[in-house]
This record gives sequence, structure tokens and C-alpha cells, in this order.
Amino acid sequence: MPVSTALVDTDRPERYIKQLVSHLGRKVSTDLTLDGRGTVTLSAGSCVLVPGPDGLELTATAADAEALAGVQDVVARHLVRFAAREDLAVDWSEPIGGDTVEPTHPLVADYVLAHSTQPDELLRELVAETREATGGAAGMQISHDEGALLTLLTRLVGARRAVEVGVFTGYSSICIARGLADGGRLLACDVSEEWTAVARRYWERAGVADRVELALAPALETLRALPTEPELDIAFIDADKASYPAYYEEIVPRLRPGGLVVLDNVFLGGRVLDPAFTGPDHLAMRGLNELIATDPRVEAVMLPVRDGVTIARKR
Ligand SMILES: C[S@@+](CC[C@H](N)C(=O)[O-])C[C@H]1O[C@@H](n2cnc3c(N)ncnc32)[C@H](O)[C@@H]1O
Repeated sequence: MPVSTALVDTDRPERYIKQLVSHLGRKVSTDLTLDGRGTVTLSAGSCVLVPGPDGLELTATAADAEALAGVQDVVARHLVRFAAREDLAVDWSEPIGGDTVEPTHPLVADYVLAHSTQPDELLRELVAETREATGGAAGMQISHDEGALLTLLTRLVGARRAVEVGVFTGYSSICIARGLADGGRLLACDVSEEWTAVARRYWERAGVADRVELALAPALETLRALPTEPELDIAFIDADKASYPAYYEEIVPRLRPGGLVVLDNVFLGGRVLDPAFTGPDHLAMRGLNELIATDPRVEAVMLPVRDGVTIARKR
């Protein structure tokens, strides 16, 4: 199934997603999730629209190249029309994947979301407040199914010592903290005082503040300062993508045998599959994905959950 992506430079991605979903929703099947992602399903194929930190991320899929061009045309034409004053440019990547790649279909992703344990009222409020307070940056928040996965994994390993790299407004840290065994602690690393101020409030409200320690510093410094003994039960990496290989290398020696390192966004919106993308993030993630698959220190599985989640267990 060919896939094509585009990153549209705008600071109002959520507005355009809503507008497109509501406009096309009169004629075709559309969906808008709680976290601001839109899906448009045309007869020719579909397009997922995600509000990202750098703009509006589009991923179009269809059965063949001709149908894909039709989907691209419908989405781009409408966006350009809605943004008459902003002069939007929608530059689609060359189709990738051919007949061999089957990325997660948006309908499957939504079905998975709907059939995983649902977020409670507090997490829903956190999603709403994050969208209100951080605008386009809200797309950085993990999705509900990933949150459910993190709580489950934390519980499964009976974690007492956990580390998170990339807190933002606290969704994933609450999910990890909730899964900790009695007396467990989460070291939460981030550089943003502003975003973690929201996290702190929600840790209090979730009743987990006593289990979470915030380290406000570049995460690499925080990780390097940790004891080198293999004591960690679980670590979650979800921060600056180019540093993932360095985070992984600091974390793996500190995991106890049987401990887990979980990495988010290992697909980079599908761009990791497309050799045309050669930015620092793409190269770092592609290299790390390859390394993990053959790393003798771990056994690993890459899951097509949202933007790709790798779970690696220390041998
Ligand atoms: C994708 S967001 C994390 C989302 C979060 N896991 C959640 O569930 O909402 C990435 C976070 O990484 C943080 N970050 C970026 N560079 C960093 C660094 N060098 N050290 C620590 N945190 C960093 C950003 O401030 C941002 O809050």
C-alpha cells in the first residue's frame, strides 16, 4: 500500500484538522479523536492528520499510486482553500512502501484506541488542558493506548525503580507512576519548567506526587549521574529524537536483567521507512532501530502502536 507524508508549516494545525474533518464529514467518513487527530476516509483511500510540534503532519494511504494522488489532491486542495490568508504549502513526499509495506491503517489504529483500557476523567482533563495550554505542541502527548500499555508493562515487571525521559505535561509519567509497586519511584526527566509545572499539578491530583521526582536538566546529564549498577526496572524514552541512541546506551547497562526500556515514536510518522528523509532525527532513529533488532543485550519487539513503540527487555 503506497504511503505519502507531508509536514505542513503552520502554527494552527488543530484548527485545520477540525475544519477539514467537519467539512468533509458531510460527504465522507471522518473522525476526530480526543487528542486532536483527524482521519478522513475517502473512497480512494484515507488520510490521517496529526497536530505536531512542527506543524500539521499528514499521512495519506491508498491501494495504488493513482488513488493516492486522488487523496493527496482532495486533502491539499481543501487545506489551501481553508488557509487563504496563511498561504499554506502542502508538499507530499514521493510515495513510499510500494506493495511491500503495510503500515498501520488509521482505522485499525482507532479501533485499537477504542478497545484498550480507557483513560479516567483526570487523564481526559489533562489532555484537554494540554491542548488548551500548549496548542500544536499537544501532539507530543502519548495516546491513551500507549498510556494503558505503559501502566500494564510497569505492573508486569513489578517496577520499583522507573525512569522517564520526556515528561511534557505528565500523561506518561502518571501512567507509569500508577503501575509502580508499593514504595516504587519514578525519576522524571525534562528541561521545560513551563510544561512540567502542569505535570506537577496533575501528579498531585492523581495522588502520585510522592512517587515522582522531577529532574529539570538535559536528560543525558541526569542519566549519566545515576548509579551504574543495574537497578532500573523500566525506562520510557520520549524526548528529543536525535538523542535516543545516547539515552538507550545510558539506560541499558542500568537495567536489571528482565528490566524494560520502552521507546516511543520509532516510526517518526513513517519517515523512518523512507530513505529520502535524512535529517538528524531520521538517521538517529533508523540507526537505533537497526541496532536494537540485533543488540545481544536485549530481546525486543517493535509494535505498530500509534507512531511505533519498541519494547526491549534486558537479557
Ligand atoms: C514528546 S514530549 C514527551 C511527552 C510525554 N511523554 C507525555 O506523555 O506527554 C518530549 C519532551 O521532551 C523534553 N525534552 C526535549 N529535549 C530534552 C532533553 N534534552 N532532556 C530532557 N527533556 C527533553 C521536552 O521538553 C518535552 O517535554
